[in-house]
Amino acid sequence: MVEDDPPSSDIPWTEKYRPKKLNQVFGQKEIVERMEAYAKRRDVPHMLFSGPPGVGKTTVALALAHELYGERWRDAFMEMNASDERGIDVVRGKIKDFARTLSLSDVPFKIIFLDEADALTSDAQNALRRTMEMFASNTRFILSCNYSSKVIEPIQSRCAVFRFKPLMEQDVTDMLHHIGRHEKIELKDDAVKALIYVSEGDMRKAINALQGAAAVSKHITAEGIFKVSSRATPDEVRQMLELALKGDFLGAREKLDNVMLNYGMSGEDVMLQMYREITSLSIPDRTKVALVDRIGEYNFRLVEGANERIQLEALLAQIMLLGSER
Ligand SMILES: Nc1ncnc2c1ncn2[C@@H]1O[C@H](COP(=O)(O)OP(=O)(O)O)[C@@H](O)[C@H]1O
Ligand SMILES: [Mg+2]
Repeated sequence: MVEDDPPSSDIPWTEKYRPKKLNQVFGQKEIVERMEAYAKRRDVPHMLFSGPPGVGKTTVALALAHELYGERWRDAFMEMNASDERGIDVVRGKIKDFARTLSLSDVPFKIIFLDEADALTSDAQNALRRTMEMFASNTRFILSCNYSSKVIEPIQSRCAVFRFKPLMEQDVTDMLHHIGRHEKIELKDDAVKALIYVSEGDMRKAINALQGAAAVSKHITAEGIFKVSSRATPDEVRQMLELALKGDFLGAREKLDNVMLNYGMSGEDVMLQMYREITSLSIPDRTKVALVDRIGEYNFRLVEGANERIQLEALLAQIMLLGSER
């Protein structure tokens, strides 16, 4: 018996709903337009895609390949992860093998998509640059990275650079509703808001949180979203800060216990969320600035390995002192 595809519920929704065509990509409008023009001309330069995770870098590269090569895109598109492979020599070997075989389509080049190019050392990047030159006649490279500044200048200057941005709220909202309709899940406005809050413009994060919550119940609630994402609700974090600012140390500490236990948050998660809530507090700007400064200091201590519990409580104590100075 031939094995069936796994039931659709087993496929990660990030893959199931990954746009296949350029015109199905949400946001990144100017980039998509340029890709459509390249596809039409059937001519593509080497490219560098930079930007935060989950905003469509791989998706756009795949959609471009679909657009150029149609059904047989797999013959002409190779995806590699620079940090997965054991060194640049493996990468070069694979590239050589791939570039050597002829392209079967009417497009005279193949595409090599190299993810996490910024994870390569500069020596490895130099080797990569020579490889790019060696196969320039019949391959195009799309390098993907989080920080273009970590890619050496000689590579940057050979590539058209595209900067992907965190997705706008509307784009994330539209995508989530699109999935919600297909999966027949009930997605209320406050749940969408929660998804936007936890994902910070990262579509992968938003979709994964949605799928995680939907595995528990088809009625998606804001609370369910915060739970699966290990994020406290913004309200709870704000309340904790307000209690501390008011001088209620024990109350603030109790809130801290609650959010850490309920949501399984790490100390760093808590501090990050405190930081995000500062702007929404009704306190003088001067106090906000001092708060940012304190959080910066205690976050640094955590990163350096200090005891999480003690540092969090010490931070609450500092916030209390700031509150009493007002
Ligand atoms: N602009 C976008 N439009 C629609 N879906 C997107 C977009 N960006 C990301 N996604 C979704 O998030 C997942 C991860 O996106 P991907 O392109 O792999 O991110 P990265 O920028 O890290 O390469 C995709 O499978 C897709 O479902
Ligand atoms: Mg990617």
